[in-house]
Amino acid sequence: MNASHTKNPLSRLENRNVLIAPSILAADFAELGKEIKAVEDNGADVLHVDVMDGHFVPNISIGPPVVEAVRKVTSLPLDVHLMIAEPEKYIQSFAAAGADNLTVHVETSKDIKGLLEEIHQTGCSAGLVLKPATPAESVIPWIEQLDLILVMSVEPGFGGQSFMREQLVKIQKIRQAINQANANVHLEVDGGINEKTAPEAIRAGANLLVAGTSVFRHPGGCRFAIEQLRKA
Ligand code: DX5
Ligand code: ZN
Repeated sequence: MNASHTKNPLSRLENRNVLIAPSILAADFAELGKEIKAVEDNGADVLHVDVMDGHFVPNISIGPPVVEAVRKVTSLPLDVHLMIAEPEKYIQSFAAAGADNLTVHVETSKDIKGLLEEIHQTGCSAGLVLKPATPAESVIPWIEQLDLILVMSVEPGFGGQSFMREQLVKIQKIRQAINQANANVHLEVDGGINEKTAPEAIRAGANLLVAGTSVFRHPGGCRFAIEQLRKA
């Protein structure tokens, strides 16, 4: 465990800036250290880490040991997206492994308040994420307790899917609620983000863009890919 890591919660970053968060799910796992260094050197603001348990979503990815290894090779804030059932059982492990932000699915817990408190007690910032079918109203009441809201623009579980445009209305609704509350809450969008869909998501009110395939698998390389997103 990397107890010496000083947390860099996303609450320290301004939600008025557009931030780019490459998702390592699309990286070459055999070259993970190099891939992360490449996006860090080429303008990534945050690193998005997708955790899947084969239960909440029909796919399995990585767990705390990989987060711990990633922590050692980057100083980017680690934005850990927990696509897992019973997230309360794993908050401490991911925080100790070096996560800076922990985002849990609103569909997974009956005790959102307790979950958010536990995340904050570890020094991490806290996010809530909703699946495409889950309405904006499920997260809006929690705005004051949150540092981040993540809108899924694909069904969680796999990279490389197409952006669901019908999620733009939800992004707009949540942006309005964040502005009304005058809260420094990031509005993150995840799934199918590329140079075409990024401007739509930003116009709707998103400020934190997760991009897996369009960054790590861009034929022009990750520097070009991040520049393209930045231009958007
Ligand atoms: C999907 C994950 C996403 C995924 C995005 O369940 O939460 O973070 O890696 O991948 P792309 O950008 O390829 O849609
Ligand atoms: Zn994700």
